Amino acid sequence: MSRNVVKEGMKTVGRLIKKDKFPILEGHPIAQLHGEEGVESVGNLKKAMKLADKAKKKEFRIYRWSPDNPNQKPFLQSFFVDLPSCGPMVLDALQKIKGEEDSSLSYRRSCREGICGSCAMNIDGVNTVACLKPIDTDTSKPTTITPLPHMFVIKDLVVDLTYFYQQYKSIEPWLKTRKPPPDGREYWQTPEDRKKIDGLYECILCACCSASCPSYWWNPEEFLGPAALLHAYRWISDSRDDFANERLQAITEDQGRLYRCRTIKNCAACCPKSLSPANAINKMKIRHLSDKPVEHLEAEPEPRFGQA
Ligand code: SF4
Ligand code: SF4
Ligand code: FES
Repeated sequence: MSRNVVKEGMKTVGRLIKKDKFPILEGHPIAQLHGEEGVESVGNLKKAMKLADKAKKKEFRIYRWSPDNPNQKPFLQSFFVDLPSCGPMVLDALQKIKGEEDSSLSYRRSCREGICGSCAMNIDGVNTVACLKPIDTDTSKPTTITPLPHMFVIKDLVVDLTYFYQQYKSIEPWLKTRKPPPDGREYWQTPEDRKKIDGLYECILCACCSASCPSYWWNPEEFLGPAALLHAYRWISDSRDDFANERLQAITEDQGRLYRCRTIKNCAACCPKSLSPANAINKMKIRHLSDKPVEHLEAEPEPRFGQA
């Protein structure tokens, strides 16, 4: 039955994808790359199915630790997944393992399409969301899956994000205004003003960036981290918000909150939505140091990571 499900899934992917082009992902180079890898991975799986290569098993080494056995050290457990009967993404493999081999395997997931940010983990050394990461169909080497680094592990691939969300909450991620809306219902924005939050509003709060940032690893209590700072800049850039200066003051009154960023750009390199928290942080530093209004900084938007 699962083979039929996969076949149907492949047909759907084939219908949706025309000759490896993803116009909807224009401006999202990392998502484009994932899409292309996905097509390639589906192609490889199709070939394997044609060859009736039933033994095409891929090894997944998955980090295991359970609070039920606190004295047992964490370890990597190997699972062998039959690729022809598995969907193309790493999350599909995890679902298959959980459904067919070990129901105690724990990880977060919800949307399975890169929207909710729950399935963030480290796959072969890179933080990303498992539902957008195609399975590497080379069966000669294993894929290693571990939790987001430098986070407290609750169980297996589930990490404690309490502090991450507290930091997000601390930047007050909601619209703050001094006057009621002119028509009593909505705050309007021109298309030009709306454009200023492109590259910021798309963040899905997956925490891949913060968990890849060395400054955040070593100073998590002090430094707000790339995700919370990207959101701070998202509200500072919003023409409808009347508290840009107060927001900037709040994140700069303690120098460590913003200035612990050393522009290493790990955050931009791993973001599954191709966003650049580093650029947002730099713009806030410039605004703070030069006292330039945000409109001047937005006159020439910086390219996103991966764009020329
Ligand atoms: S900026 Fe990117 S990596 Fe960071 S939380 Fe948002 S979507 Fe995730
Ligand atoms: S650019 Fe700044 S926020 Fe991004 S990874 Fe480097 S130090 Fe962290
Ligand atoms: S399951 Fe929602 S982002 Fe992966």
